[in-house]
This record gives sequence, structure tokens and C-alpha cells, in this order.
Amino acid sequence: MSDRYAVIGNPIAHSKSPRIHALFAQQTGQDMVYGAILAPRDGFAATVFEFIAAGGRGANVTLPFKEEAHRLAASLSPRAASAGAVNTLDFSGPAIFGDNTDGAGLVRDLTVNHDCPIAASRVLLLGAGGAARGALLPLLQQGPRALLIANRSADRARLLAREFSAAGREIEGCGFDELAGRQFDLVIDATSAGLGDVPLDLPPGLFAPGSFAYQMVYGRQSAFLRQARADGAGRTADGLGMLVEQAAESFLLWRGVRPQTGPVLERLRREAAAS
Ligand code: ATR
Repeated sequence: MSDRYAVIGNPIAHSKSPRIHALFAQQTGQDMVYGAILAPRDGFAATVFEFIAAGGRGANVTLPFKEEAHRLAASLSPRAASAGAVNTLDFSGPAIFGDNTDGAGLVRDLTVNHDCPIAASRVLLLGAGGAARGALLPLLQQGPRALLIANRSADRARLLAREFSAAGREIEGCGFDELAGRQFDLVIDATSAGLGDVPLDLPPGLFAPGSFAYQMVYGRQSAFLRQARADGAGRTADGLGMLVEQAAESFLLWRGVRPQTGPVLERLRREAAAS
């Protein structure tokens, strides 16, 4: 019987993960199946245990269960511990292991697919929620020239920055209004305003010449990316590449093989354009 994996979330019907992992399995010749499981809002742990009992070897976890998965895992990777959230569970050991591949997926998409040198960049991270927190350790590990977190509620950004600088890292937090007069080479939108039509309340002039604007959410062109282009960003991208890269990191953890993401990303873009 093929090894079983799944993504667990609520809602789950529109998840691209089964498609991505099926393409990875085909490409690498791995004998596995990967499904989608809708868990009741109050039944995440029960769903996980049921899946393990049915032979599940690993699972991805998506909204709204990433924090709960963090609590459920008996051991955690350092990046999952720092994210406070888990998007990848591994059931192959004696106890449930939790990892978080979102931030690594972001960094790989930026550095490999978009040739964006984080180490040489002044980075602005917008948002101070779960998505921003998950990206922080992998971004900091790249050694950016500067890293500033800005959030609508300034206190949340300051708190998050303080938490990470307590570990000896150079990082500041502020509100959007304190950004006036500053410039960045890389601006990442990690807010949940995502695909909304209302631009973020950012001062003009944030984008250095040739800078890169990245939105973690994927889909149609968002107000943030339009705003970034109008304000001088040289390049923009949505988070489809991050989605494929975080999936590849999970696949590597489970199967010990790193799939090639380029052809899968190209295929998903073609399919999205055709639909
Ligand atoms: P997630 O896990 O997706 O990051 P979250 O923890 O609820 O979700 O955090 C949402 C983030 O998006 C927060 O940084 C939030 O800003 P506040 O802390 O000020 O609420 C940000 N956000 C959501 N809608 C926003 C908007 N319209 N403008 C600016 N920031 C927004």
C-alpha cells in the first residue's frame, strides 16, 4: 500500500497541496498518496489521531489549526518553536514531530526563484501576526542588512521585535506612520489584508530603486502589489512560489528527497491562467 499523507484544515476544498504533492511524487517516483481532510473546528487533534490510526505518515496543517498543531507535537524543530505554529507533522517516529516550513519556503522563493539577495537587503516585514512570526527566524538567518517589522498596531510589532532581539538579533518594530522617510530593498506583506482591495495605510517613498515587493498570499494582483508598483518597486511577486517551496520542504522532511519546484510552479501558474 502507498504511504499516506494529507493536508488538514477548515476550509480545505481549495487547497493546492494535494496537487503539488502529487506532482512531486510523480516527479521523484515516490510511492505515496496525498489527500485533503476537513477537520471540524473543535476536532483537530481527533482528526490527526484518526489519520495516524489509518496509517497516515505525515500531514500538512493549514488554517486555523497551525497553533493547535504546535501544541499537539511532542517535539518541535527550532523554526517551528520560534514560529509558535506548525504546518508539517511527521508521524514516522515514536512521537509526533512538528516542523514549520513556511518561512524556509518564503526564503527559498525569494533567494532561489527570484534571485533576491536577502543578505544584502534592508527588509521591511509588514504585519505582526502568525504569518509574520513564522517568517522571522528564517529571514534573520539570512543576515539581512536591517530588518524592521511594521504593523498597523505598533505595539504588536514592537513586542515581536523585542522577543526576537532578546535572542541577540538586530530587529526593530514600529507602526506604519513611523515608516515615513525610510527606504527598503525588500518589502514583504505578511498581513492578512492579503487580497483585499484596500491598500495598506503606508507612507509613500518606502521602495528603494530596484526594490522588490512580495506578498505572501497568492492569487490575483492585490492592492498591496499595485500600491508597491505605483510607489516605485522594481519587481513584485505573490506567494505561489512560497506555497510550492514550503511544500517541497515538507516533502524533503518526509521522503528525504528534494523535488524540483520550478516545473511544478510553472504548471500551477499555467493551470491558474487557464481556469
Ligand atoms: P495571520 O496568522 O494571518 O498573520 P493574524 O495573526 O490575525 O493573522 O494577524 C493578522 C495581521 O494582519 C496583523 O498584523 C494585522 O494587523 P493588526 O495587528 O494591527 O490587527 C494585519 N492586518 C489585517 N488586516 C489589516 C489591514 N486592513 N491593514 C493593516 N493590517 C492588517
